[in-house]
Amino acid sequence: TSYETILIDRKDRVGVITLNRPEALNALNLQVMHEVIAAATEFDRDPGIGCIVLTGSAKAFAAGADIKEMQPNSYMDVYLADWFTAWDRLAEIRTPTIAAVSGYALGGGCELAMICDIILAADTAKFGQPEIKLGVIPGIGGSQRLTRAVGKAKAMELCLTGRMMDAAEAERAGLVSRIVPAADLADEAISVATTIAGMSLPIAMMAKESVNRAFETTLAEGVRFERRVFHATFATADQKEGMAAFVEKRKPTFEHR
Ligand code: HXC
Repeated sequence: TSYETILIDRKDRVGVITLNRPEALNALNLQVMHEVIAAATEFDRDPGIGCIVLTGSAKAFAAGADIKEMQPNSYMDVYLADWFTAWDRLAEIRTPTIAAVSGYALGGGCELAMICDIILAADTAKFGQPEIKLGVIPGIGGSQRLTRAVGKAKAMELCLTGRMMDAAEAERAGLVSRIVPAADLADEAISVATTIAGMSLPIAMMAKESVNRAFETTLAEGVRFERRVFHATFATADQKEGMAAFVEKRKPTFEHR
């Protein structure tokens, strides 16, 4: 498949999607949305891909939804076209996803990063939900995922003032897993993704599904869900291999089944 607003690459079992609209700081217009979702879905269906990295440029991961594209629309336009609902598909991807964020991750850009399973930040990263300054509110899950990630006080402040937070603040607040020097971001993201892609893919999917369950249910139900899935791991060849390899003091060779 050929795309116009993103670049696709493969590094062994890692699929890389790079947002590529430099003239607009990777603003997420509808074409970008459809292309990212198509590429991620294609990687997700490919058993040869064990982790997906989503990234942007040095200056911007993405500076938000495309304001120029949104501007002329009426309520009925955005209601009937159900703007941004398609992004939900990205949250349903089963393969683990990493957002490698350098520069601006604002509005829809911050929301897109938060849809991913892990956010790895360059020391130049800046996160924010500046929609309020445009007379709108977050529309791709920002008010929900940011609140779950950093808590009410900081989410409220960011959504109500539009202030950006830098990488250090984002890490302290729990939004990002780690900060790396900007020059190392791409390599580090591939390295983390390669580690994940080296695990059993179905087991990684089960781990991802279990962690995500924490955001959808009570503690008791979540623990019950986890235990059922834990039991299910014993039905896989990779559990047999993983435990045998440990006992035999060798590296496991996962078959991803
Ligand atoms: C469309 C955008 C854009 C955006 C930047 N550009 N962000 N175009 N949509 N979100 C364009 C600019 O118009 C400009 O085009 C070019 O990219 C370079 O941007 P500059 O502003 O010149 O760069 P700089 O001065 O370095 O400032 C960077 C910036 C600023 C601070 C990130 O661009 C900015 O504030 N952008 C908007 C951020 C934002 O509000 N995002 C939230 C969007 S709403 P030209 O043609 O002039 O060179 C959103 C809502 C989600 O995401 C869902 C709810 C509705």
